[in-house]
Amino acid sequence: MKILVLNGPNLNMLGIREPGIYGTETYDTLIEKIKKHAEEKNVEVVCKQSNHEGDLVDWIQEAFFDKTDGIVINPGAYTHTSVAILDAVKAVKIPTVEIHISKVEEREDFRQISYISLAAAKTITGKGTDGYIEAMDFLIDGQN
Ligand code: DQA
Repeated sequence: MKILVLNGPNLNMLGIREPGIYGTETYDTLIEKIKKHAEEKNVEVVCKQSNHEGDLVDWIQEAFFDKTDGIVINPGAYTHTSVAILDAVKAVKIPTVEIHISKVEEREDFRQISYISLAAAKTITGKGTDGYIEAMDFLIDGQN
């Protein structure tokens, strides 16, 4: 099984950005944690991060041609603005889990809209970086 983990803008700044909201764990530590979990579960994982919307769209499209089985995505602020990322997920029809480190539903009004949730098989919020592991398990264990 092949899983693609995508992180959008500013998630490379984990550990530095607003630690009261996003915690002190760095992006590199998050990736190590994801790779370790993939190894334990015997699945292939590819992790990518970009601050650019088009990169995320390109990688979602590539996942289709690479025969990726599942996508875990934290689109960052593009969650609340990007029809393009939503359309990409709808186009490839790869089971996708949306994950947010913070509890977005308890934050500002502008964070209450999530375009990608219209195509996501599951949305996980407010569990810190453990949410990425839960998202992987959801895809690995057949989406219960
Ligand atoms: C986020 C929540 C978004 O509203 C924000 O723009 C982010 C991170 C989260 O992981 O909690 O960049 O997706």
